[in-house]
Amino acid sequence: MIRAVELIQRKRDGEELSASELSELILGYARGEVPDYQLAAFCMAVFFRGMTPAETYALTDAMIRSGETVDLGVALGRKVVDKHSTGGVGDKTSLSVGPIVAACGVPFGKMSGRGLGHTGGTLDKLESISGFQIELPLDAFVTQVREVGMAIVGQTADLVPADKLLYGLRDVTATVDQVSLIAASIMSKKLAAGAQAIVLDVKVGDGAFMKTLDEARLLAEAMRALGEQAGREVVCLLTDMDQPLGGAVGNALELVEARATLRGEGPADFTELVLDACARLLALSDLGVDLDEGRRRAEAVVADGSAEAMWCSWIEAQGGTSDEAALPVAPVVREVRATSGGVVESLGAIAVGMAAVHLGAGRQTKADEIDHAVGVVCLRKRGDTVAVGDVLAEVHARDEAAAAGAEAEVLAAYALGDGPADTRSVLLDVIG
Ligand code: URA
Repeated sequence: MIRAVELIQRKRDGEELSASELSELILGYARGEVPDYQLAAFCMAVFFRGMTPAETYALTDAMIRSGETVDLGVALGRKVVDKHSTGGVGDKTSLSVGPIVAACGVPFGKMSGRGLGHTGGTLDKLESISGFQIELPLDAFVTQVREVGMAIVGQTADLVPADKLLYGLRDVTATVDQVSLIAASIMSKKLAAGAQAIVLDVKVGDGAFMKTLDEARLLAEAMRALGEQAGREVVCLLTDMDQPLGGAVGNALELVEARATLRGEGPADFTELVLDACARLLALSDLGVDLDEGRRRAEAVVADGSAEAMWCSWIEAQGGTSDEAALPVAPVVREVRATSGGVVESLGAIAVGMAAVHLGAGRQTKADEIDHAVGVVCLRKRGDTVAVGDVLAEVHARDEAAAAGAEAEVLAAYALGDGPADTRSVLLDVIG
């Protein structure tokens, strides 16, 4: 008999639970023996009381033990490196990092997730491509990573099933943005998938779960501690999410931008983050290179076309077409023009993310179908100077009414003023 009420009550009152108590609760939940309402109450108690490092580790460990683990490193006979982002607006980083790292000779096998609220998910973006298979049997996934160099798939049902359940519950009980719960959710998936070295992109700002650098540092430290305790190397990048990353926000639009970045034609902030993350992954890999050499190699495969060639091989290996003309296109494209002149002092990430969701690019309920063609392209970003009538952004919509609504939302997301321009880099800090 699981003592759920007692454990919830003790957490509510600020007590520390033991590893076996947390294991009992989480594994009981995963088996369907503890109902959603009790886990929801437990998550809310954690939200207010927090968890000690020992509790966070025990939670992570219990979540991993709720399902199977994969050792991609053993299957490939190579050191496996992986990356994960805490989620943001316009965050298409894995789509560009994967082909670059793979073109440099480091296997990239990633299990990704779907969008949540105003943040987009890699799987939703990939499903813009006709024929693309996000569900591969484990042996096909490993074979593709070995033979092609990379694969991005959905998390298999057997990998950390407790996270899948808990995440869905947290999403609808206002308990997503808690450091220990996020750290355990992300790290359980990374550890269960066998990565030996992990680059974590911790987003900070208006469009992220962590709104301040201090909160983001706490999350980064919690995830690093979990990784180290499990014997893995972890590097955390703290990156700006006060404005959307790059220009495109919306599924097919983001794919086009991710691919352009592989040709060296991506937006400056996105390109900088991608190249930095690649350099760090290469430096952690078994290539035996340092950070500078990693950066040089990442830039070289962009310049010589091999990163884009890897994109095509990867997409086709997973059943998709690499013909960009086959991507869905929205019937209405409306320009958003500045109604005053000045410097772009801020561009609200969450406002642009929500405009994209309202256009249909994201889900408002779990059952919603995504419209892969629609979204927003921000042509002007923080620090740019604009004149009245300049095009700030484009709205890609299903119809004129949706376009008009999004136009107003995107215009309101831009704050123009006298400056000075905010020249903050996308990369705010590195931990580890
Ligand atoms: N991403 C995850 O995988 N889990 C969280 O809890 C938050 C972001």
